[in-house]
Amino acid sequence: MTKAPGWNANLYSERHSFVWKLAEDLLQLLAPQKGERILDIGCGTGQLTAQIAAAGAIVTGFDSSQDMIRTAREKNPNLRFELGDAREIHLAESFDAVFSNATLHWIREPARVVTRIWRVLEPGGRFVAEFGGKGNLDTLISAFQRSFAALGLPGAEEANTWYFPSVGEYAGLLESQGFEVCQAALFDRPTPLEDGERGLENWVHMFAPVFLNRIPSENQAALLRELERRSRPSLFRDGQWILDYRRLRVLARKLRA
Ligand code: BEZ
Repeated sequence: MTKAPGWNANLYSERHSFVWKLAEDLLQLLAPQKGERILDIGCGTGQLTAQIAAAGAIVTGFDSSQDMIRTAREKNPNLRFELGDAREIHLAESFDAVFSNATLHWIREPARVVTRIWRVLEPGGRFVAEFGGKGNLDTLISAFQRSFAALGLPGAEEANTWYFPSVGEYAGLLESQGFEVCQAALFDRPTPLEDGERGLENWVHMFAPVFLNRIPSENQAALLRELERRSRPSLFRDGQWILDYRRLRVLARKLRA
């Protein structure tokens, strides 16, 4: 499994709120109903979990980060949150829907995750997810690679451990598990970062520390400046960094036997 960064829940909530603020459409696609049991995989600090609950669903937030789960419980004391790995979901009950936003690109073993989602769903249940798809962050990743090379640093290729599948690849995975894929789309979603000039550096510390951790600490500032210099022509506009996110969005159903 790709190891997601050791998440800092406060920083995540304060500086990276776009992660859930941009998920309105996905919630509409989920269309949670009163009384439905819904599992929210990669719930983070629980903002979307709370919105699902507000629709009257009985929701369980699920995340592999202790810090995220602790904060989610503090912010939403009436909701249920469970710590766990999406490749090994061991929950006693089953669900009418599984939801996941901006999480599945962290896990390099997607087939294991899809199998677990299948097992926790009721027959006829739906899986609604959005995450980084093929081409996600291509401009930024290329700038990372060119910055490493320019500074004579090794390790940029190995640091890129995200999983950004195509529609065909992911739909095929779902179908081979037995899902019916009702919708699958890949689309650009340019994503503005908060905090002006400092936005990219903040983002790297939050979401891509693996690139920094591979190099000696005395080179990290130089790498960040080189990354900014190379990314700026494409990704900085009007005082704001805007990253080249591409989303893969799916709606699939577990066929009844
Ligand atoms: C994404 O949401 O696409 C993403 C976020 C952080 C790192 C990689 C991908």
